[in-house]
Amino acid sequence: MSVLTILEFPDPRLRTKAAPVTVFDAQLKRFVADMFETMYAANGVGLAATQVDVHQRVLVIDMSDERDQPLVLINAEIVEQDGAQVYQEGCLSFPGVYADVTRALKVKVKAQDADGKEFFYEAEGPQAVAVQHEMDHLAGKVFVDYLSPLKRSLLLKRLEKQRKQAASA
Ligand code: NI
Repeated sequence: MSVLTILEFPDPRLRTKAAPVTVFDAQLKRFVADMFETMYAANGVGLAATQVDVHQRVLVIDMSDERDQPLVLINAEIVEQDGAQVYQEGCLSFPGVYADVTRALKVKVKAQDADGKEFFYEAEGPQAVAVQHEMDHLAGKVFVDYLSPLKRSLLLKRLEKQRKQAASA
């Protein structure tokens, strides 16, 4: 397994729309394992293939404190959604910055596992936020797209400042 490089905003490759996965082979399983390793190494709770410059519809999530509840969703589609919630989101492509985003409270998705087997997955609360956030990445969308122009420019300034501090540390 290996840790992959995570693209950071405003890398234009983050705007790429991912294609459906059609081949469920050993290479895909290795890629899924690498995505988990990359996400855990970065202390993230979710990662989309787009963020590691692979433009296929693969996302991984693990919101557990023990880091022992890995979830992989391949070719995920939202089939039902309900309610609304505001949740403070972060993103591995925006290190050190967070913002409130409004999303559906509950989602039901149809997806495939790494063997290509289809299943339904229902999530609520923070887990539903993660599913929607990662699915957005696969569509070339990032969480700051939901912010007002003013809030977005403040957040991007903060991102710049964090980067400078990290570079000089
Ligand atoms: Ni993200």
